[in-house]
Amino acid sequence: MKKVDFLVVGSGIAGLSYALKLCEHFESKKRDVNICILTKAEQFESNTQYAQGGIAAVIDKEDSYQQHIEDTLVAGAFLNDEEVVRMVVEEGPDRINELIRWGANFDKGKDGQYDLAKEGGHSDHRILHHKDITGKEIQRALLEKVQKRKNVELLNHLFAIDLITQHHLGEKVTRNRADKQCFGIYALNKISGEVETILAKVTLLATGGVGQVYRTTTNPSVATGDGIAMTYRAKGEVKGMEFVQFHPTAFYNPTQKGHAFLITEALRGAGAILRNHKGENFMKKYDSRGSLAPRDIVARAIDAEMKKGGQEHLWLDASDISQDELNNHFPSIFQKCLEYGVDITKDWIPVAPAAHYMCGGIEVDKKGRTTIHNLLASGECTYTGLHGANRLASNSLLEAAVYAHESCQTAIQLFDHTDFQIGVPQWNKEGTTVAEEMVLISQSRSDLQAVMSNYVGIVRSDERLNRAFARTALIFEETEALYRKTSLSLPLCELRNLINITYLIISAAKERKENVGLHFSIDNEVLETSS
Ligand code: FAD
Ligand code: SIN
Repeated sequence: MKKVDFLVVGSGIAGLSYALKLCEHFESKKRDVNICILTKAEQFESNTQYAQGGIAAVIDKEDSYQQHIEDTLVAGAFLNDEEVVRMVVEEGPDRINELIRWGANFDKGKDGQYDLAKEGGHSDHRILHHKDITGKEIQRALLEKVQKRKNVELLNHLFAIDLITQHHLGEKVTRNRADKQCFGIYALNKISGEVETILAKVTLLATGGVGQVYRTTTNPSVATGDGIAMTYRAKGEVKGMEFVQFHPTAFYNPTQKGHAFLITEALRGAGAILRNHKGENFMKKYDSRGSLAPRDIVARAIDAEMKKGGQEHLWLDASDISQDELNNHFPSIFQKCLEYGVDITKDWIPVAPAAHYMCGGIEVDKKGRTTIHNLLASGECTYTGLHGANRLASNSLLEAAVYAHESCQTAIQLFDHTDFQIGVPQWNKEGTTVAEEMVLISQSRSDLQAVMSNYVGIVRSDERLNRAFARTALIFEETEALYRKTSLSLPLCELRNLINITYLIISAAKERKENVGLHFSIDNEVLETSS
């Protein structure tokens, strides 16, 4: 049984920056603690790694906190928690400076000032970026720093299965029980196939997104909502799951399954225009902000135009952007499109919406505390109240950095009052001896993705949601039966988590009876907001 002071699940911006902060704190106090980061694949694999556009913060002298706050509230259809919005926006510049101190490079213009980009829903230029690979740059800098720390152990290919709580001590744990506590995690070692018990004083979930519940997503294959599903199974609170953000412009490639290549919104910020198959700049029909309206509006408009014309994609026209700008700011998109046979200096880019970001997740307070004691969470797996019904572009890297900071302060306080739990049993694998039948698992995963894409996408209806509920309930029963008798594997664990996530999304969508932000059903009334 392994014992660590601080356990971190996930090696994206949220997990890595939290771990680094803890290190710095305890080094400054000359106290020896051990920090263990688990990650289910290679350490760089995460949503963070693929972030393109950048990180939003008030840097420009002409900009103001109030404007960033208002843009966030408008995009979120005012379902945001205004106090949280203020906290995140006002902490933004400090967290950016920290990333810079840790070695992340953000592009500057010829005048030596940061080259701030603009994205949908922002009233000013406020997106710091590293070309069009901002996430990769942040991840590189953080990983390099973390790897130099002696007291941080970074374990790849270790998959967190379940939180350890009083349930594992034989006690009854209900959603209403107020003293639920996390003692650590059971984790599947993908190499040995064994389940390891890791006890921790404080555990942080930073497990990222859920994109893999849909057939087409900008998220990599690791984004299966594990942290949210684990917390829900442990009877912690989860919120806002109906608000799934579809990015309007993923590269349309019918031969590529799963992970879709993103065409950053910053390209529209630089002047690219959405066009339908008649070549029309149709967005103005839907919103006066045109191609730079908030994402929920643009994605729905694209969906409507595609349905009207019976097409599977529309076009993004970047041909008016100068070669210089394309080379300097968007080299990876330029190159990737060329590989697909599209020269973006003259050809229009085929684009379609793809599942991109989960605005809901594990409910946390402003200090990163979940509803389970000694369990903290930060980043995309959380619901903080920042995004409301729709996330403003480039606010999620910012949110992850801010909540890593807040969670770190909480963890430091918890540490001195917490001990390792005694009496925690090893993982019980009794009866699970049958070798898995991969085809059952992979078919269920693709059935699930098809149901979610067809019935619980950008536009929903009561009937579609009911159908989705019934279909996924069947997959749930089959999978639980399989889980009880089969030896544990990563695909099976991920499938269980994906099913939990679909249940949470569909139930939340069924409960929301008005159209707001990212939730739109043809059977609902439109909630009037001032956006
Ligand atoms: P992630 O970076 O996703 O990290 C999650 C980590 O948890 C991974 O290491 C994963 O392997 C690990 N993990 C998950 N489950 C388990 C488990 N069971 N056991 C062990 N490890 C586990 N946001 C912006 O603000 N600006 C942008 O420009 C931007 N562009 C984006 C472009 C793309 C293509 C995508 C996909 C997202 C983009 N986003 C952007 C969103 C943003 O990147 C993410 O919300 C953010 O990076 C999430 O960080 P995170 O640390 O919470 O999670
Ligand atoms: C993008 O670059 O368009 C993605 C930005 C984001 O998801 O915030």
